[in-house]
Amino acid sequence: SKKIVLQEDATLPAAVKAKIGNLTPLRSKRIRTSGWVHRLRDQKEIIFVVLRDGTGYLQCVLSGQVAQTYEALTLTLESTIEVIGTLKTVPDGQTAPGGHELVVDYWKVLGASPGGEDAFTNKLNEKSDPSIQADLRHLVLRGETASAVLKLRAALLTAFRQTLIEHDLLEVTPPCLVQTQVEGGATLFKLDYYNQPAFLTQSSQLYLETCLPSLGDVFCVQESFRAENSHTRRHLSEYTHLEAELAFITFTDLMDHIEAIICETTNKLLQNPASAALIKQLNPTFTAPERPFLRMSYVDAIKWLNEHDIKHEAEDAEGNVIRDESGSPVMVEHKVGDDIAEAAERRMTDILARPMFLYGFPTELKAFYMKKMPRDGAAGPTFTESCDLLMPGVGEIVGGSMRIADEEELLAAYKREGIDPAPYYWFTDQRKYGTCEHGGYGLGVERFLAWLGKRFTVRECSLYPRCATFMFV
Ligand code: 4AD
Repeated sequence: SKKIVLQEDATLPAAVKAKIGNLTPLRSKRIRTSGWVHRLRDQKEIIFVVLRDGTGYLQCVLSGQVAQTYEALTLTLESTIEVIGTLKTVPDGQTAPGGHELVVDYWKVLGASPGGEDAFTNKLNEKSDPSIQADLRHLVLRGETASAVLKLRAALLTAFRQTLIEHDLLEVTPPCLVQTQVEGGATLFKLDYYNQPAFLTQSSQLYLETCLPSLGDVFCVQESFRAENSHTRRHLSEYTHLEAELAFITFTDLMDHIEAIICETTNKLLQNPASAALIKQLNPTFTAPERPFLRMSYVDAIKWLNEHDIKHEAEDAEGNVIRDESGSPVMVEHKVGDDIAEAAERRMTDILARPMFLYGFPTELKAFYMKKMPRDGAAGPTFTESCDLLMPGVGEIVGGSMRIADEEELLAAYKREGIDPAPYYWFTDQRKYGTCEHGGYGLGVERFLAWLGKRFTVRECSLYPRCATFMFV
Protein backbone atom coordinates (compact mmCIF):
# COMPACT_ATOMS: atom_id res chain seq x y z
CA SER A 1 0.00 0.00 0.00
CA LYS A 2 1.10 3.54 -0.69
CA LYS A 3 2.48 5.46 2.27
CA ILE A 4 0.23 8.39 3.11
CA VAL A 5 2.05 11.54 4.14
CA LEU A 6 -0.13 14.22 5.70
CA GLN A 7 0.31 17.81 4.53
CA GLU A 8 -1.15 20.74 6.40
CA ASP A 9 -3.64 22.60 4.16
CA ALA A 10 -2.22 26.12 3.84
CA THR A 11 -5.56 27.54 2.67
CA LEU A 12 -7.21 26.88 6.04
CA PRO A 13 -7.42 29.71 8.59
CA ALA A 14 -4.41 30.02 10.93
CA ALA A 15 -4.84 27.89 14.07
CA VAL A 16 -4.90 29.54 17.52
CA LYS A 17 -2.63 27.81 20.03
CA ALA A 18 -4.31 27.08 23.37
CA LYS A 19 -4.22 24.74 26.37
CA ILE A 20 -7.02 22.18 26.60
CA GLY A 21 -8.53 23.84 29.66
CA ASN A 22 -9.00 27.14 27.78
CA LEU A 23 -10.76 25.90 24.67
CA THR A 24 -14.43 26.70 25.36
CA PRO A 25 -14.28 30.30 23.98
CA LEU A 26 -12.61 28.95 20.82
CA ARG A 27 -15.49 26.73 19.69
CA SER A 28 -16.01 26.67 15.90
CA LYS A 29 -12.46 28.06 15.46
CA ARG A 30 -9.40 26.30 14.10
CA ILE A 31 -7.06 25.60 17.02
CA ARG A 32 -3.87 23.72 17.82
CA THR A 33 -2.85 22.07 21.02
CA SER A 34 -0.44 19.43 22.29
CA GLY A 35 -0.62 16.71 24.90
CA TRP A 36 -0.33 13.05 25.84
CA VAL A 37 -2.53 10.31 24.36
CA HIS A 38 -4.65 9.41 27.36
CA ARG A 39 -7.12 7.08 25.60
CA LEU A 40 -7.14 5.60 22.15
CA ARG A 41 -10.03 3.92 20.31
CA ASP A 42 -10.18 2.74 16.73
CA GLN A 43 -13.66 2.51 15.25
CA LYS A 44 -14.34 1.79 11.58
CA GLU A 45 -11.60 3.94 10.04
CA ILE A 46 -12.06 6.63 12.67
CA ILE A 47 -9.58 7.04 15.50
CA PHE A 48 -10.78 8.67 18.71
CA VAL A 49 -7.99 10.07 20.85
CA VAL A 50 -8.52 11.58 24.28
CA LEU A 51 -5.66 14.01 24.71
CA ARG A 52 -4.40 15.16 28.13
CA ASP A 53 -2.24 18.19 28.93
CA GLY A 54 -2.78 18.60 32.68
CA THR A 55 -5.34 21.38 32.24
CA GLY A 56 -8.00 19.00 30.93
CA TYR A 57 -8.95 16.26 28.49
CA LEU A 58 -9.87 16.75 24.82
CA GLN A 59 -11.55 14.27 22.48
CA CYS A 60 -9.93 14.35 19.05
CA VAL A 61 -11.49 12.74 15.99
CA LEU A 62 -9.15 11.52 13.27
CA SER A 63 -10.79 10.30 10.07
CA GLY A 64 -10.12 9.87 6.36
CA GLN A 65 -6.47 10.34 5.37
CA VAL A 66 -5.73 11.85 8.76
CA ALA A 67 -6.35 8.41 10.28
CA GLN A 68 -4.49 6.42 7.66
CA THR A 69 -0.90 7.55 8.06
CA TYR A 70 1.76 5.21 9.42
CA GLU A 71 1.84 7.32 12.63
CA ALA A 72 -1.93 6.94 12.99
CA LEU A 73 -1.84 3.17 12.57
CA THR A 74 1.01 2.76 15.07
CA LEU A 75 -0.08 5.43 17.58
CA THR A 76 0.30 4.33 21.23
CA LEU A 77 -0.99 5.50 24.60
CA GLU A 78 1.13 8.17 26.29
CA SER A 79 2.74 9.35 23.08
CA THR A 80 2.88 13.14 22.78
CA ILE A 81 1.18 14.63 19.72
CA GLU A 82 0.24 18.00 18.33
CA VAL A 83 -3.23 18.27 16.83
CA ILE A 84 -4.73 20.98 14.63
CA GLY A 85 -8.37 21.14 13.66
CA THR A 86 -11.76 22.71 14.16
CA LEU A 87 -13.32 22.65 17.62
CA LYS A 88 -16.96 21.53 17.49
CA THR A 89 -19.67 21.23 20.10
CA VAL A 90 -20.51 17.52 20.47
CA PRO A 91 -23.79 16.50 18.82
CA ASP A 92 -26.87 16.15 21.07
CA GLY A 93 -26.94 12.90 22.99
CA GLN A 94 -23.14 12.53 22.93
CA THR A 95 -20.72 13.48 25.64
CA ALA A 96 -17.07 14.46 25.63
CA PRO A 97 -14.87 16.22 28.18
CA GLY A 98 -15.62 19.96 28.03
CA GLY A 99 -18.66 19.34 25.79
CA HIS A 100 -16.64 19.70 22.58
CA GLU A 101 -14.36 17.69 20.30
CA LEU A 102 -11.60 18.50 17.87
CA VAL A 103 -12.12 17.45 14.27
CA VAL A 104 -8.47 17.07 13.30
CA ASP A 105 -7.22 18.14 9.87
CA TYR A 106 -3.50 17.90 10.61
CA TRP A 107 -1.46 16.30 13.39
CA LYS A 108 1.96 14.94 14.17
CA VAL A 109 3.74 12.77 16.70
CA LEU A 110 6.14 14.70 18.93
CA GLY A 111 7.38 11.79 21.06
CA ALA A 112 6.27 8.21 20.48
CA SER A 113 5.72 6.01 23.52
CA PRO A 114 6.66 2.32 23.17
CA GLY A 115 4.10 -0.38 22.37
CA GLY A 116 4.29 -4.13 23.06
CA GLU A 117 6.19 -5.44 26.08
CA ASP A 118 7.32 -2.03 27.24
CA ALA A 119 3.92 -0.34 26.72
CA PHE A 120 2.74 2.06 29.39
CA THR A 121 -0.27 -0.02 30.48
CA ASN A 122 1.80 -3.20 30.76
CA LYS A 123 4.23 -1.44 32.99
CA LEU A 124 1.52 -0.25 35.37
CA ASN A 125 -0.75 -3.30 35.37
CA GLU A 126 1.58 -6.22 35.93
CA LYS A 127 2.78 -4.88 39.28
CA SER A 128 0.36 -4.23 42.08
CA ASP A 129 2.82 -4.52 44.96
CA PRO A 130 2.64 -1.18 46.82
CA SER A 131 6.41 -0.70 46.88
CA ILE A 132 6.58 -1.26 43.11
CA GLN A 133 3.68 1.15 42.71
CA ALA A 134 5.80 3.64 44.66
CA ASP A 135 8.66 2.92 42.30
CA LEU A 136 6.35 3.82 39.43
CA ARG A 137 4.83 6.84 41.11
CA HIS A 138 6.01 9.08 38.24
CA LEU A 139 3.81 7.04 35.88
CA VAL A 140 0.92 6.48 38.32
CA LEU A 141 0.60 10.29 38.52
CA ARG A 142 -0.62 10.32 34.91
CA GLY A 143 -3.81 8.51 35.95
CA GLU A 144 -7.12 10.32 36.38
CA THR A 145 -7.39 9.63 40.12
CA ALA A 146 -3.82 10.46 41.12
CA SER A 147 -3.84 13.67 39.10
CA ALA A 148 -7.24 14.69 40.52
CA VAL A 149 -5.87 14.24 44.06
CA LEU A 150 -2.92 16.51 43.28
CA LYS A 151 -5.17 19.12 41.67
CA LEU A 152 -7.38 19.10 44.74
CA ARG A 153 -4.27 19.45 46.88
CA ALA A 154 -3.27 22.60 45.00
CA ALA A 155 -6.79 24.01 45.33
CA LEU A 156 -6.93 23.36 49.06
CA LEU A 157 -3.56 25.01 49.69
CA THR A 158 -4.81 28.11 47.85
CA ALA A 159 -8.12 28.06 49.76
CA PHE A 160 -6.34 27.66 53.12
CA ARG A 161 -4.06 30.59 52.32
CA GLN A 162 -7.04 32.77 51.35
CA THR A 163 -8.91 31.88 54.53
CA LEU A 164 -5.92 32.49 56.79
CA ILE A 165 -5.23 35.85 55.13
CA GLU A 166 -8.91 36.80 55.62
CA HIS A 167 -8.33 36.08 59.32
CA ASP A 168 -5.37 38.53 59.32
CA LEU A 169 -2.61 35.95 59.48
CA LEU A 170 0.62 36.64 57.58
CA GLU A 171 2.51 33.91 55.73
CA VAL A 172 6.16 33.31 56.66
CA THR A 173 8.72 30.70 55.57
CA PRO A 174 10.64 29.20 58.51
CA PRO A 175 13.79 27.10 58.01
CA CYS A 176 13.94 23.31 57.62
CA LEU A 177 17.47 22.97 59.04
CA VAL A 178 17.25 23.42 62.81
CA GLN A 179 19.07 22.70 66.07
CA THR A 180 16.04 22.31 68.34
CA GLN A 181 13.40 19.62 68.79
CA VAL A 182 9.70 20.37 69.15
CA GLU A 183 7.86 17.07 69.32
CA GLY A 184 10.34 14.79 71.10
CA GLY A 185 13.83 13.51 70.36
CA ALA A 186 12.67 10.05 69.28
CA THR A 187 11.42 11.17 65.86
CA LEU A 188 14.25 13.53 64.90
CA PHE A 189 16.17 13.08 61.66
CA LYS A 190 19.74 13.98 62.60
CA LEU A 191 22.32 15.33 60.21
CA ASP A 192 25.74 16.85 60.11
CA TYR A 193 25.69 20.63 59.71
CA TYR A 194 29.28 21.81 59.08
CA ASN A 195 30.53 19.49 61.84
CA GLN A 196 27.72 20.41 64.21
CA PRO A 197 24.68 18.29 65.00
CA ALA A 198 21.45 19.54 63.42
CA PHE A 199 18.01 18.16 62.54
CA LEU A 200 15.35 18.37 59.91
CA THR A 201 12.47 20.35 61.40
CA GLN A 202 9.59 18.50 63.10
CA SER A 203 7.45 21.62 63.30
CA SER A 204 7.90 25.34 62.62
CA GLN A 205 5.96 26.26 65.74
CA LEU A 206 8.84 27.69 67.76
CA TYR A 207 9.81 30.02 64.90
CA LEU A 208 6.20 31.11 64.39
CA GLU A 209 6.07 32.06 68.06
CA THR A 210 9.02 34.42 67.56
CA CYS A 211 7.13 36.22 64.75
CA LEU A 212 4.18 37.31 66.92
CA PRO A 213 5.77 40.50 68.34
CA SER A 214 6.80 41.81 64.91
CA LEU A 215 4.33 40.38 62.42
CA GLY A 216 1.26 39.60 64.49
CA ASP A 217 -0.56 36.33 63.85
CA VAL A 218 1.31 34.18 61.34
CA PHE A 219 1.11 30.93 59.42
CA CYS A 220 3.38 28.80 57.26
CA VAL A 221 3.12 25.89 54.85
CA GLN A 222 6.36 24.00 55.29
CA GLU A 223 7.64 20.44 55.14
CA SER A 224 8.02 18.69 58.52
CA PHE A 225 10.06 15.52 59.05
CA ARG A 226 9.39 12.65 61.45
CA ALA A 227 11.52 9.55 61.77
CA GLU A 228 8.70 7.40 63.05
CA ASN A 229 6.82 4.24 62.31
CA SER A 230 5.35 5.19 58.98
CA HIS A 231 3.80 1.84 58.11
CA THR A 232 0.37 3.19 59.02
CA ARG A 233 -2.17 4.76 56.71
CA ARG A 234 -1.51 8.21 58.12
CA HIS A 235 2.21 8.58 58.75
CA LEU A 236 4.83 9.89 56.36
CA SER A 237 8.51 10.61 57.08
CA GLU A 238 8.12 13.96 55.30
CA TYR A 239 4.79 15.76 55.20
CA THR A 240 3.44 19.22 54.44
CA HIS A 241 2.62 21.00 57.66
CA LEU A 242 0.28 23.97 57.72
CA GLU A 243 0.91 25.75 61.01
CA ALA A 244 -0.43 28.92 62.56
CA GLU A 245 0.23 30.93 65.72
CA LEU A 246 -2.03 33.55 67.32
CA ALA A 247 -1.37 36.08 70.09
CA PHE A 248 -3.62 37.28 72.93
CA ILE A 249 -6.13 34.42 72.69
CA THR A 250 -7.73 31.92 75.03
CA PHE A 251 -7.92 28.15 74.58
CA THR A 252 -11.56 28.47 73.49
CA ASP A 253 -10.57 31.13 70.93
CA LEU A 254 -8.01 28.68 69.56
CA MET A 255 -10.54 25.89 69.00
CA ASP A 256 -13.07 28.35 67.53
CA HIS A 257 -10.39 29.59 65.13
CA ILE A 258 -9.37 26.08 63.98
CA GLU A 259 -13.02 25.20 63.37
CA ALA A 260 -13.58 28.42 61.39
CA ILE A 261 -10.49 27.90 59.22
CA ILE A 262 -11.43 24.28 58.40
CA CYS A 263 -15.06 25.11 57.60
CA GLU A 264 -14.43 28.30 55.63
CA THR A 265 -11.72 26.57 53.58
CA THR A 266 -14.00 23.60 52.88
CA ASN A 267 -16.80 25.97 51.81
CA LYS A 268 -14.48 27.83 49.44
CA LEU A 269 -13.56 24.53 47.81
CA LEU A 270 -17.21 23.52 47.45
CA GLN A 271 -18.17 26.92 46.00
CA ASN A 272 -15.45 26.86 43.34
CA PRO A 273 -16.75 24.77 40.37
CA ALA A 274 -13.33 23.31 39.50
CA SER A 275 -12.50 22.09 43.01
CA ALA A 276 -16.12 21.06 43.67
CA ALA A 277 -15.89 18.80 40.59
CA LEU A 278 -12.68 17.22 41.92
CA ILE A 279 -14.30 16.55 45.31
CA LYS A 280 -17.31 15.02 43.55
CA GLN A 281 -15.03 12.80 41.46
CA LEU A 282 -13.00 11.55 44.44
CA ASN A 283 -15.56 11.64 47.25
CA PRO A 284 -19.08 11.73 45.75
CA THR A 285 -20.93 11.64 49.09
CA PHE A 286 -18.91 14.44 50.71
CA THR A 287 -20.86 17.10 52.57
CA ALA A 288 -19.46 20.07 54.48
CA PRO A 289 -19.11 19.37 58.22
CA GLU A 290 -21.66 20.87 60.57
CA ARG A 291 -20.66 23.47 63.16
CA PRO A 292 -19.99 23.54 65.99
CA PHE A 293 -17.68 20.50 66.11
CA LEU A 294 -18.12 18.14 69.03
CA ARG A 295 -15.68 18.96 71.87
CA MET A 296 -14.82 16.12 74.25
CA SER A 297 -12.27 16.28 77.05
CA TYR A 298 -9.58 13.61 77.27
CA VAL A 299 -11.03 12.39 80.60
CA ASP A 300 -14.50 12.04 79.04
CA ALA A 301 -12.97 10.24 76.04
CA ILE A 302 -11.41 7.64 78.36
CA LYS A 303 -14.87 7.09 79.91
CA TRP A 304 -16.47 6.94 76.46
CA LEU A 305 -13.97 4.29 75.27
CA ASN A 306 -14.68 2.13 78.32
CA GLU A 307 -18.46 2.53 77.94
CA HIS A 308 -18.09 1.37 74.32
CA ASP A 309 -15.85 -1.55 75.31
CA ILE A 310 -12.94 -0.26 73.20
CA LYS A 311 -9.77 -1.65 74.79
CA HIS A 312 -6.09 -1.27 74.11
CA GLU A 313 -3.12 -3.64 74.13
CA ALA A 314 -1.52 -4.05 77.56
CA GLU A 315 2.16 -3.07 77.71
CA ASP A 316 4.93 -3.83 80.20
CA ALA A 317 7.14 -1.16 81.77
CA GLU A 318 9.42 -1.17 78.69
CA GLY A 319 6.49 -0.59 76.37
CA ASN A 320 6.40 -4.14 74.96
CA VAL A 321 2.99 -5.64 74.18
CA ILE A 322 1.97 -8.31 76.75
CA ARG A 323 0.68 -11.52 75.11
CA ASP A 324 -1.36 -14.47 76.43
CA GLU A 325 -0.39 -18.19 75.99
CA SER A 326 -1.82 -18.21 72.46
CA GLY A 327 0.30 -15.21 71.50
CA SER A 328 -2.59 -12.74 71.20
CA PRO A 329 -2.14 -9.34 72.81
CA VAL A 330 -3.83 -8.95 76.20
CA MET A 331 -6.50 -6.25 75.89
CA VAL A 332 -7.21 -3.92 78.81
CA GLU A 333 -9.53 -1.01 79.64
CA HIS A 334 -8.34 2.58 79.21
CA LYS A 335 -7.45 4.60 82.27
CA VAL A 336 -6.59 8.27 82.77
CA GLY A 337 -2.93 8.74 81.82
CA ASP A 338 -3.03 6.32 78.86
CA ASP A 339 -2.21 7.49 75.39
CA ILE A 340 -5.24 6.97 73.16
CA ALA A 341 -3.76 4.82 70.40
CA GLU A 342 -4.52 5.17 66.72
CA ALA A 343 -6.84 2.13 66.60
CA ALA A 344 -9.02 3.31 69.51
CA GLU A 345 -9.11 6.86 68.18
CA ARG A 346 -10.13 5.62 64.76
CA ARG A 347 -12.98 3.53 66.20
CA MET A 348 -14.21 6.47 68.21
CA THR A 349 -14.30 8.84 65.21
CA ASP A 350 -15.92 6.14 63.06
CA ILE A 351 -18.70 5.59 65.62
CA LEU A 352 -19.29 9.31 66.27
CA ALA A 353 -19.01 9.94 62.50
CA ARG A 354 -18.37 13.68 62.76
CA PRO A 355 -15.40 15.99 63.31
CA MET A 356 -14.50 16.29 66.99
CA PHE A 357 -11.99 18.06 69.19
CA LEU A 358 -10.36 15.94 71.86
CA TYR A 359 -8.86 18.36 74.37
CA GLY A 360 -7.07 18.52 77.71
CA PHE A 361 -4.45 15.76 77.41
CA PRO A 362 -2.28 14.84 80.43
CA THR A 363 0.95 16.82 80.73
CA GLU A 364 3.09 13.65 80.64
CA LEU A 365 1.77 12.69 77.21
CA LYS A 366 2.36 16.04 75.60
CA ALA A 367 5.20 18.27 74.41
CA PHE A 368 7.23 20.42 76.83
CA TYR A 369 5.87 23.80 75.64
CA MET A 370 2.18 23.24 76.40
CA LYS A 371 0.31 25.39 78.88
CA LYS A 372 -1.24 23.58 81.83
CA MET A 373 -4.94 23.81 82.63
CA PRO A 374 -5.86 25.30 85.98
CA ARG A 375 -5.64 22.41 88.47
CA ASP A 376 -8.90 20.86 89.65
CA GLY A 377 -8.02 20.52 93.35
CA ALA A 378 -4.60 20.09 94.94
CA ALA A 379 -3.84 16.47 94.02
CA GLY A 380 -4.19 14.39 90.88
CA PRO A 381 -2.71 14.62 87.39
CA THR A 382 -2.29 17.88 85.46
CA PHE A 383 -3.75 18.40 82.04
CA THR A 384 -2.76 20.72 79.21
CA GLU A 385 -4.63 23.25 77.10
CA SER A 386 -4.11 21.04 74.08
CA CYS A 387 -6.46 19.74 71.41
CA ASP A 388 -6.48 17.28 68.54
CA LEU A 389 -9.05 17.58 65.79
CA LEU A 390 -10.23 14.12 64.72
CA MET A 391 -12.00 13.41 61.44
CA PRO A 392 -14.02 10.32 60.52
CA GLY A 393 -12.02 7.92 58.34
CA VAL A 394 -8.66 9.52 59.08
CA GLY A 395 -8.37 10.38 62.78
CA GLU A 396 -6.17 13.24 63.94
CA ILE A 397 -5.65 15.93 61.31
CA VAL A 398 -4.80 18.89 63.57
CA GLY A 399 -2.78 19.14 66.78
CA GLY A 400 -2.74 22.40 68.68
CA SER A 401 -2.29 23.97 72.09
CA MET A 402 -1.84 27.07 74.16
CA ARG A 403 1.84 27.67 74.96
CA ILE A 404 3.55 28.32 78.28
CA ALA A 405 3.74 32.11 78.55
CA ASP A 406 5.75 32.30 81.79
CA GLU A 407 9.55 32.13 81.65
CA GLU A 408 10.05 30.25 84.95
CA GLU A 409 7.42 27.70 84.00
CA LEU A 410 9.11 27.14 80.63
CA LEU A 411 12.52 26.63 82.27
CA ALA A 412 10.94 24.06 84.58
CA ALA A 413 9.38 22.31 81.57
CA TYR A 414 12.77 21.99 79.80
CA LYS A 415 14.13 20.46 82.98
CA ARG A 416 11.26 17.99 83.35
CA GLU A 417 11.80 16.80 79.76
CA GLY A 418 15.60 16.69 80.09
CA ILE A 419 16.02 19.35 77.38
CA ASP A 420 19.15 21.55 77.45
CA PRO A 421 17.77 25.12 77.51
CA ALA A 422 20.91 26.62 75.85
CA PRO A 423 19.93 26.19 72.18
CA TYR A 424 16.42 27.44 73.03
CA TYR A 425 17.59 30.87 74.31
CA TRP A 426 15.69 32.67 71.51
CA PHE A 427 12.49 30.78 72.33
CA THR A 428 12.87 31.58 76.03
CA ASP A 429 13.45 35.26 75.15
CA GLN A 430 9.87 35.45 73.90
CA ARG A 431 8.78 35.07 77.54
CA LYS A 432 11.36 37.60 78.74
CA TYR A 433 10.77 40.53 76.38
CA GLY A 434 7.03 41.05 76.69
CA THR A 435 5.26 37.74 77.02
CA CYS A 436 1.67 37.08 75.94
CA GLU A 437 -0.92 34.34 76.10
CA HIS A 438 -0.70 32.62 72.73
CA GLY A 439 -1.41 29.38 70.98
CA GLY A 440 -1.38 27.66 67.65
CA TYR A 441 -1.75 24.46 65.74
CA GLY A 442 -0.40 22.27 62.98
CA LEU A 443 -2.53 20.65 60.30
CA GLY A 444 -1.28 17.68 58.27
CA VAL A 445 -2.05 18.65 54.68
CA GLU A 446 -1.98 15.04 53.44
CA ARG A 447 -4.34 13.96 56.22
CA PHE A 448 -6.76 16.77 55.46
CA LEU A 449 -6.66 15.80 51.79
CA ALA A 450 -7.23 12.12 52.66
CA TRP A 451 -10.36 13.19 54.54
CA LEU A 452 -11.64 15.56 51.84
CA GLY A 453 -10.83 13.28 48.90
CA LYS A 454 -11.60 9.99 50.70
CA ARG A 455 -8.18 8.42 50.14
CA PHE A 456 -7.23 5.20 51.91
CA THR A 457 -3.75 6.42 52.84
CA VAL A 458 -1.87 9.72 53.10
CA ARG A 459 0.65 8.27 50.64
CA GLU A 460 -1.82 8.98 47.85
CA CYS A 461 -1.98 12.60 48.97
CA SER A 462 1.72 13.38 48.61
CA LEU A 463 3.48 14.00 45.29
CA TYR A 464 6.37 11.65 46.14
CA PRO A 465 5.70 10.08 49.56
CA ARG A 466 8.59 9.24 51.86
CA CYS A 467 8.00 6.41 54.35
CA ALA A 468 10.16 4.26 56.60
CA THR A 469 9.93 1.40 54.12
CA PHE A 470 10.72 3.21 50.88
CA MET A 471 11.95 6.25 49.05
CA PHE A 472 12.13 5.28 45.42
CA VAL A 473 11.29 8.04 42.99
O1 4AD B 1 0.41 16.93 66.64
P1 4AD B 1 1.69 17.37 66.00
O2 4AD B 1 2.92 16.58 66.26
O3 4AD B 1 1.86 18.88 66.44
C1 4AD B 1 2.94 19.68 66.22
O4 4AD B 1 3.90 19.41 65.55
C2 4AD B 1 2.76 21.07 66.77
N1 4AD B 1 4.08 21.62 67.07
C3 4AD B 1 2.03 21.89 65.75
C4 4AD B 1 1.77 23.30 66.22
O5 4AD B 1 1.11 23.49 67.21
N2 4AD B 1 2.24 24.26 65.47
O6 4AD B 1 1.49 17.45 64.42
C5 4AD B 1 0.47 18.25 63.89
C6 4AD B 1 -0.22 17.53 62.74
C7 4AD B 1 -0.93 16.25 63.15
O7 4AD B 1 -2.21 16.51 63.64
C8 4AD B 1 -0.99 15.51 61.83
O8 4AD B 1 -2.07 15.95 61.05
C9 4AD B 1 0.29 15.91 61.16
O9 4AD B 1 0.74 17.10 61.77
N3 4AD B 1 1.33 14.88 61.32
C10 4AD B 1 1.67 14.01 60.35
N4 4AD B 1 1.20 13.83 59.10
C11 4AD B 1 1.77 12.85 58.36
N5 4AD B 1 2.78 12.06 58.78
C12 4AD B 1 3.28 12.21 60.04
N6 4AD B 1 4.30 11.42 60.44
C13 4AD B 1 2.73 13.22 60.88
N7 4AD B 1 2.97 13.63 62.15
C14 4AD B 1 2.11 14.64 62.37
